[in-house]
Amino acid sequence: MPADNFCKTNASEAPRRSGVECVAPARVNLLGEHTDYSGGLVLPMAIPFFTHATIRQRDDGLYSFDSELFPETLSVDRADRSAARGEWSDYPVGVLRELQSLGKEPPPFDLHLSGNVPLSAGLSSSASVEVASAMAMLAIAREALTIEDLAVLCRRAENDYVGSPCGIMDQFVIVAARAGHALLLDTRTLAYEDLPMKKGGLGETQIVICNSMVKHSVATGEYGIRRRESEQGQAVLVNRFGIRDLGDATLEQLEAVRPQISAAAFRRCRHIITENARVRAAKDAMNAGDPVAFGKLMLGSHISQRDDFQCSCDETDFLVETATALPGCFGARLTGGGFGGCTVNLVRRGDAEAFRSALKAAYQQKFHRTAETYLCEAADGAWRCNAEMLGAVAGSPAAPAGAQ
Ligand code: GLA
Repeated sequence: MPADNFCKTNASEAPRRSGVECVAPARVNLLGEHTDYSGGLVLPMAIPFFTHATIRQRDDGLYSFDSELFPETLSVDRADRSAARGEWSDYPVGVLRELQSLGKEPPPFDLHLSGNVPLSAGLSSSASVEVASAMAMLAIAREALTIEDLAVLCRRAENDYVGSPCGIMDQFVIVAARAGHALLLDTRTLAYEDLPMKKGGLGETQIVICNSMVKHSVATGEYGIRRRESEQGQAVLVNRFGIRDLGDATLEQLEAVRPQISAAAFRRCRHIITENARVRAAKDAMNAGDPVAFGKLMLGSHISQRDDFQCSCDETDFLVETATALPGCFGARLTGGGFGGCTVNLVRRGDAEAFRSALKAAYQQKFHRTAETYLCEAADGAWRCNAEMLGAVAGSPAAPAGAQ
């Protein structure tokens, strides 16, 4: 069930005492990397890994947070406004803070989280937690938000409370995705459209995610450095050409300001400008159902991330290089924030099993590390479970078919 079913739910339906369960997927980005904080285009899809948030009202004036994945639990007073603690609970607490500042404060609650989204893998475990938590808190506050406002609220929680400088892509797709479709999002206007994953020749393909098991984090270091470098280049372009952001910039304009910006800023901006062009071309490839064209764009994106944005690493470069030489692989690239994490591969369906085994074996041999692979279909965005659906969720796959 897509998220807007939640957003349009009559808030008065929220049960007061019995508890509410909300479920949010993870995401993989097919194309459009590091374009979502400078007005660019992204093309992610939701994937069937989930965060489950169960929330119940309590009477003692406290908000309490616990997770099956972490030992620390947290209880805070309603009046508490303390800063982030550097723990997992910062994500739902950040969401609570945003709701409080919007005047949509939920009553005191117990929030219990569980889930199976791989952590620090570039598959948006953080945004999944934020969205599931926000929907659960809204439900017991008897409040509702639009898709756009819900995604923006979760992103603000991450930027302003957690202190992680992410863009809007992850939260947006986790709220708004539609099964069987990728989501093309203009991150400046938040206009979006669903593009079918299985048109024409794409119907014979399978998305295979490969987790290098090299831990990635948006909150620390390199992500923020890359972002600042691209923003330095953007500021000069905006000033010189009166454009709104890098989403409008051309390679000719970038060339014209080359003497005024650092070599690093030039490369970061070149990646972003060419990446936006690749997303536009990917829309055409998807509409034409053309896996060959789509796969070439993926590979182009990887090379640009490796050489211009410089956010890849030896392990993910190896995975992409190995993948593209395997039978049935149309394209492969690093996905998500980078510096580790996952690659995403477009593979002929009939070759997918042999592909994943060969890729894992080559990786094991080279790095003495065991990669995980996930065969994924595009999933729906987050939803709130009602009584009938609880059974359906309990019976839904705990992980994408055949995680290995
Ligand atoms: C992380 C961030 C996103 C986006 C990607 C890179 O996933 O959370 O906002 O910037 O990196 O495309």
